[in-house]
Amino acid sequence: MTARIVVTRAIPEPALDELRAAGDTWVSPHDRALAAAELHAAIRGADAVVTLLHDRVDDAFLDAAGDALRVVANVAVGYDNVDVPACARRGVVVTNTPGVLTEATADIALALILMATRRLGEAERLIRTGEPWAWSMTFLLGTGLRGKTLGIVGLGQIGRATALRARALGLEIAYTGPRRAGESVEAELEARYLPLGELLETADVVSLHCPLNDETRHLIDAAALAHMNPTAFLVNTTRGPVVDEGALVDALRAGAIAGAGLDVYEREPVVHPGLLELENVVLLPHLGSATVETRTEMALLAARNVVAVLAGGPPLSPVA
Ligand code: GLV
Repeated sequence: MTARIVVTRAIPEPALDELRAAGDTWVSPHDRALAAAELHAAIRGADAVVTLLHDRVDDAFLDAAGDALRVVANVAVGYDNVDVPACARRGVVVTNTPGVLTEATADIALALILMATRRLGEAERLIRTGEPWAWSMTFLLGTGLRGKTLGIVGLGQIGRATALRARALGLEIAYTGPRRAGESVEAELEARYLPLGELLETADVVSLHCPLNDETRHLIDAAALAHMNPTAFLVNTTRGPVVDEGALVDALRAGAIAGAGLDVYEREPVVHPGLLELENVVLLPHLGSATVETRTEMALLAARNVVAVLAGGPPLSPVA
């Protein structure tokens, strides 16, 4: 019987071609996240669903899909939108897209480090106001990075790629996480492991690369921010809820930290109104993996996971 494949939002054509060759493929005609009721109606009877990071895959989703469902292929490395135990209970394979977006996301982390420390957002906004400006010895001075410490929270693939880039800027690397990295990784980056509290106290820039889960939700809360130096910067390219956004606004407003660079938000696409008023924060609209090449590779990997599972083989990148 022909498999029914549902794609909840348009993805690059090369991936759709591979899915169409594997089964009867329906792609949402809307270029937006489907509301829960629309999503549940669309996936009825599906053998495979290709989901985006805004789709909630929970018991209601699995009930709506029904017993035929064999695989949920999330087009993202993060899969906090998927209730993985609920999928496992029903024998539904869950896959994500690790590896292919590592470099693009690390590029954005580095861009945010530079934008925040060199006040580039503020500077660009100033030019666009049309206000007169002139070079001076003290005009819009930022913070130099050479010899300073970058504290990486979560030294996975993206954390490592960010650290490698940061080394080229002369930053020294400290990291924290649930476990020590291998000796070769520590040696390559000349990275030292610190517990989170010490890392926050030591780092001049803290960059978040841990996945969002029950352990990391609001990892950076008011207490954590209070550990950081008033001269330090926070960069977040992972998931918004790792940071308590209200506490971050308070810290930025009070000068408890020097600045921040954010690509992700607690309630996307809503951005805390307090952030919009502050000069010392750079705000990007979740662009970590947003290159033509990376998005194509992500979609292809998701499609190939679907094709592999429907063919009865092992998935290429299961989440666990
Ligand atoms: C993007 O945010 C991803 O998790 O791939």
